[in-house]
Amino acid sequence: MSILDTFKSIFGKKEEKPMKNILFVVGSLRQGSFNHQQAENAAKLLEGKANVTYLDWTDVPVFSQDLEGQTPAAVASAREAVLAADAIWFFSPVYNFAIPGSVKNLIDWLSRALDLSDTTGASALQDKVTTVSLVANGGHEQAADQYRALLPFVRTQFVDELTFARVNDSAWADGKFVADEATLAQLEKQAEALLAAIN
Ligand SMILES: Cc1cc2nc3c(=O)[nH]c(=O)nc-3n(C[C@H](O)[C@H](O)[C@H](O)COP(=O)(O)O)c2cc1C
Repeated sequence: MSILDTFKSIFGKKEEKPMKNILFVVGSLRQGSFNHQQAENAAKLLEGKANVTYLDWTDVPVFSQDLEGQTPAAVASAREAVLAADAIWFFSPVYNFAIPGSVKNLIDWLSRALDLSDTTGASALQDKVTTVSLVANGGHEQAADQYRALLPFVRTQFVDELTFARVNDSAWADGKFVADEATLAQLEKQAEALLAAIN
């Protein structure tokens, strides 16, 4: 090694690890979704720390075992996105104090074995790190408890550092979700916990 190389190895910049991939699943398909706006808040917190992509799951059909043989295209691409991710962060509304049926449907699809000849085999979700944030006005705890049961059941590693947020009153008039300081602080704590689980 030349003197220059020795110098570089001592004082040079440390090799940087590639950033991990976090897949955002916004559990509301509504234009202007408050949960989507919360996801954007989280994406800002992850800037420079992880690659963030949003899952497009608009066309995932209602689950039927009759459809499983020829995997629907929307399910295949959702699986690919999940397989490419190191972690999945759900941003979920609360419907009737519970997980929205559409999100449960998506998780049901993703929970199925990749190789249907062994239905107990690994799914796209196997061992993924998951977490959940909820924007709603009531039923956070009830929906959160369902996620706390469901996500480990489908063999994901659940990071239980959830953020519960209420919809600010003005949002119903102007469509703008405003996260208060406590919410943003908790969201940051959640982002750090998620990063710690995958790095
Ligand atoms: C079927 C249905 C059930 C709902 N149930 C609840 C509920 O239990 N708690 C709540 O705070 N809001 C409930 N809402 C209102 C949603 O929280 C509200 O529509 C919210 O904007 C959804 O999140 P989004 O803005 O991300 O779409 C419900 C909405 C629908 C469509």
